[in-house]
Amino acid sequence: MARPAGSPGGGSRPLRALHVAAEVFPLVKTGGLADVVAALPAAQARQGADVRLLLPGYPSVLEGVRDARSVIDIGSCFGALRVRLLRGRMPGTDLPAYVVDAPYLYRRAGNPYLAPNGEEWPDNLQRFALLGWVAAHLAAADADPRWHADIVHAHDWHAALACAHVADHPAGGVRSIFTIHNMAFQGLFPLHDWPLLGLASRHMSPAGLEFHGQLCLMKAGLQYADRVTTVSPTYAREIATPEFGFGLEGAVRARGDDVTGILNGIDAEVWNPATDAALPSRYDAARMGGKRACRLALQRELGFEHDDGALVLAIVSRLSSQKGLDLVLQALPRLLEGGVQLAVQGSGDPVLEAALRAAAQAHPGRVHVHVGYDEDRAHRLLAGADAIAVPSRFEPCGLTQMYGLRYGTLPVVRRVGGLADTVQDAALPEGNGFVFDAATPQALCEAVERARALRATDPPSWAVLQQRAMAADLDWTGAASRYLELYRTLRERPPG
Ligand code: ADP
Ligand code: GLC
Repeated sequence: MARPAGSPGGGSRPLRALHVAAEVFPLVKTGGLADVVAALPAAQARQGADVRLLLPGYPSVLEGVRDARSVIDIGSCFGALRVRLLRGRMPGTDLPAYVVDAPYLYRRAGNPYLAPNGEEWPDNLQRFALLGWVAAHLAAADADPRWHADIVHAHDWHAALACAHVADHPAGGVRSIFTIHNMAFQGLFPLHDWPLLGLASRHMSPAGLEFHGQLCLMKAGLQYADRVTTVSPTYAREIATPEFGFGLEGAVRARGDDVTGILNGIDAEVWNPATDAALPSRYDAARMGGKRACRLALQRELGFEHDDGALVLAIVSRLSSQKGLDLVLQALPRLLEGGVQLAVQGSGDPVLEAALRAAAQAHPGRVHVHVGYDEDRAHRLLAGADAIAVPSRFEPCGLTQMYGLRYGTLPVVRRVGGLADTVQDAALPEGNGFVFDAATPQALCEAVERARALRATDPPSWAVLQQRAMAADLDWTGAASRYLELYRTLRERPPG
């Protein structure tokens, strides 16, 4: 099927972009990727772009996308007997969303990547191969004759194959961007499974998808995308080093200036203390009484003493080695001695879950741990706490420290990735939180202790930090226009 011609003076017609991802809030979310895939396209649409999503048809996506109608029957492919492409609209934002309905591959409840036993789904290769293949064909107007994309914007390894398929498409003309949200998850599979990908064998070399004798789906993005972005400027520099590149630092360096960092924003409507329906009391920078009410309500909810001098420290996080929760566990005795009330909410690694539960049992009234995923509860924690700790070993961007800023809940973070780009230490004139360098319990304790002491002994300075934090410009407007600028540059680039 031929690609519809662009209107004359192509530079001024709206940019058409297809975001391809395995998660989107509120339909399916395991982490910040879902928040980004919900908010960035919506912000781009507000700036006049024709932006659409392509998602796998998990049960929650099929249920949540409104007015879904079949666009094309694709038939049987990638091991699935019946594949259809549907088009509907995202709840809330109304953005057009395409859904790959392949019951055999996607209609499974639970986690999008993991089976109930915690292992990866055994057919993840086919599941994400199909997603990438459909993306390239949809972008080239093979699937929906009424629409094509200038740009395919693929997020993380799950969508990376789209970039290889776009590069291979005979019609040409479509450009691709690959955004790395987390270098630690690369999509590794046995090399001998390559025929399942639907890509030519010439791509299975180190210059393509091969990575130390395995298939690496992230490399489909790194090698074939027209541009590679990641979610903060600091992380863009870090992934070119062995410490943060997880073996792909050479591939990153080889792309040179094609790799850039664009700092994520946050959804300022979902995360707004002045309108947040999940809170017992609402507030803004001019009316902070509501925050005090949220703090009291949280202390009551968690069974903490109503101690005004204590530092209520929250953590809302996936429980994985990335997030540095082992440092928190090691630091715990000293933190509690120093007058901290610790509230953790998270799920993930069973060893960390068990260790945190044990800590809560050992310190009732001082440590509260909620193992599980709960959006409303996350909002109550963010609003009721004095500070939020994000002691990550690495952090591509991190969203919870930005939620903390917006809620006047000062972040205590390690100086890595997007944490370094969003939080400045209280000792600096532009300070809005507390920053430490070493990945050690001591360094974490010292930063938390500085926060506790400042709040307890110098409330006016604490209030200044809160005001500065709450005034920060964190929404998606700037990042959305930077991505659109990149799309425009690519669209206008001559072929070849
Ligand atoms: P990552 O994507 O690495 O997990 P981010 O900070 O970018 O880290 O995003 C995490 C997102 O997931 C945030 O929106 C955070 O509020 C949310 N989140 C993480 N764990 C939980 C949980 N247990 N309950 C509710 N929300 C959670
Ligand atoms: C990843 C990263 C996190 C980032 C999120 C959204 O999961 O771990 O730092 O904020 O993606 O880009």
